[in-house]
Amino acid sequence: QPDGWYQAEDATVAQGAVESNHTGYTGSGFVNYDNVSGSYVQWSVTAAQAGPATLTFRYANGTTTGRPMDLAVNGTAVSTGHPFGGTGDWNTWQSASLTVTLKAGANTVRATATTVNGGPNVDRLELTQP
Ligand code: GCU
Repeated sequence: QPDGWYQAEDATVAQGAVESNHTGYTGSGFVNYDNVSGSYVQWSVTAAQAGPATLTFRYANGTTTGRPMDLAVNGTAVSTGHPFGGTGDWNTWQSASLTVTLKAGANTVRATATTVNGGPNVDRLELTQP
């Protein structure tokens, strides 16, 4: 069970739009990144304690072209060109995870598109700590 669920539609969005024109999302919608490099979603997540945490992004990519994103925690890169591959269609959501180190309390997590196609559609970010 994740320790926190953070909807993309509640996060800070730069060059993207909250939409709900596909199925299978949680909350009230998802973020459709603009089809430009540099579009991003930034969340503030709360860690119960300092240390390792798994971040899981729930996303859809209805194309057959990857939509890699740079991931940063508290302004520091934690993954460059993290893969967000095709999911088959825009109604099919998959998870992409990585382990990071968080400080206790509030942390920012930013996912920034790195290609002219923008990011995938992103539904939410989950935080799990051991
Ligand atoms: C389609 C799809 C959008 C998606 C976009 C894209 O327009 O309906 O949800 O974001 O493609 O390629 O980014």
